[in-house]
Amino acid sequence: LWTTENIIDDSIKRVRDMVGTDQVMLGLSGGVDSSVVAALLHKAIGDQLTCVFVDHGLLRYQEGDQVMAMFAQNMGIKVIRADVEERFMSALAGEVDPEKKRKIIGREFIEVFDAESAKLKGVKWLAQGTIYPDVIESAGSKTGKAKVIKSHHNVGGLPEDMEMSLIEPLRELFKDEVRKLGVALGLPYNMVYRHPFPGPGLGVRILGEVKKEYADILRLADHIFIQELIKWELYDKTSQAFAVFLPVKSVGVVGDARRYDYVVALRAVETIDFMTARWAHLPYEFLEHVSGRIINEIPRISRVTYDISSKPPATIEWE
Ligand code: XMP
Repeated sequence: LWTTENIIDDSIKRVRDMVGTDQVMLGLSGGVDSSVVAALLHKAIGDQLTCVFVDHGLLRYQEGDQVMAMFAQNMGIKVIRADVEERFMSALAGEVDPEKKRKIIGREFIEVFDAESAKLKGVKWLAQGTIYPDVIESAGSKTGKAKVIKSHHNVGGLPEDMEMSLIEPLRELFKDEVRKLGVALGLPYNMVYRHPFPGPGLGVRILGEVKKEYADILRLADHIFIQELIKWELYDKTSQAFAVFLPVKSVGVVGDARRYDYVVALRAVETIDFMTARWAHLPYEFLEHVSGRIINEIPRISRVTYDISSKPPATIEWE
């Protein structure tokens, strides 16, 4: 019978048979797929698993600490955290083109990941959170490598000199099955059902040049938006919601003083497949409340706009 419990038991057995006493490495992004793989592998092989978590400084509010708290402290999984914010910021300095930004982030990611894994001695297996839709999607591509290290921005493949075999325990599962597995493995519901977050992170939500200053402002605005969506029970009614940083300044007033500060756009969509999406018709009272909080609590933001573009023709992300 194809129940969640059976899938877990069966996967654990298969993983144990495959890896024996070998060491396994996993790139942990904090997203659903890699998180479920981490929980599953930890259950199967315990300390033979080491996760590498690349914190590139383009994650959401306190996300890096949350990932460490949950996997390392809570679950006792070995996680190596690479704190490489500065490296990413310098690599991105001066670049304004969205595709070039993606390439830079992808390249740096692979380099950091490669360097961290080179430090781990005797690792024979690389685990990945590839799920069935990824398998179908990359079936048409020539090398099938497009989805290798998929949680790392779908770039490239395994570094040439990395002699490891792949282990992909979620390869036959759809997203909803992966989520059920996650809950059954003890991952918190709110992390398993979190909105998707792109690999390049805030790097594509800061329009144009990426700067730490912008990322810090954006994180605060995004956090307020998400917090309020949850509080108003609207989070589960939207498929993806986030804030976008616009590097333009706009005039406002606070008390008697004139201010001249940045703008953020709020984006929320409803979609089944992310190929088409309708902008979410969030209640005006909600938007009013969120905008008030953002402008009052974040000194560097003077204006909030709401994105009313659907896909197509607009994409979900702004870059
Ligand atoms: P768009 O903006 O193309 O987004 O309508 C569709 C979905 O894909 C996500 N997205 C990305 N995910 N790397 C990712 O891993 C990327 O470069 C990337 N760009 C967009 C986006 O968040 C949405 O869920």
